Amino acid sequence: MLTLRSEPLFTEIRIRERVDQLAERILQDIGGDKPLVAVGILRGCYVFMADLLRELAKRGAAINEQDFLIASSYGDETESTKKIKIERDLLMDIKDQRVLLIDDIIDTGHTLKLIRELLLKRNPEMIKTVTLLDKPERREVDLNADYSGFTIPNVFVVGYGLDYAQKYRELPYITVLEDQAEG
Ligand code: XMP
Repeated sequence: MLTLRSEPLFTEIRIRERVDQLAERILQDIGGDKPLVAVGILRGCYVFMADLLRELAKRGAAINEQDFLIASSYGDETESTKKIKIERDLLMDIKDQRVLLIDDIIDTGHTLKLIRELLLKRNPEMIKTVTLLDKPERREVDLNADYSGFTIPNVFVVGYGLDYAQKYRELPYITVLEDQAEG
């Protein structure tokens, strides 16, 4: 039986602190003078993206446009598969734009790699990638996000936009989904 661990892995406060730090670092690194285009990978990105962009805006970053891709790996299992489908592409043209590509987590790395390569073909001026979470133990491709919030072990996490079978995204904290033997 799958249950949520009662003790959060990252509390709401801890997440807020880390998102603030990420915004600070991104801005120091890429500068706030030239406008950015924020591209989110749905569905998991939306809570993190909303918080990160507001922290960037508070620090004076110019966000030109925001757009989304919907990517999904097949099935509802806790193991991400390598088959990734783009269900919805960007509406905007990112040619010559400075793109901040935002996702909830980098796990095997296939999703971020595929989307980054897809977007690079459209000749943006720059693409920087940011994920809130990083599970390096599971990596199957040679890619790290340019910025990531927390490194986590090989556990399945939910909350703060992350789901299991489309559930738990609304939780304000991040916790581990555990498989507990019944009886
Ligand atoms: P890859 O393996 O392509 O996976 O880097 C990225 C996508 O897999 C999902 N994913 C998770 N979702 N808890 C989740 O709710 C997890 O622990 C987890 N690990 C991977 C997620 O959709 C991510 O964008």
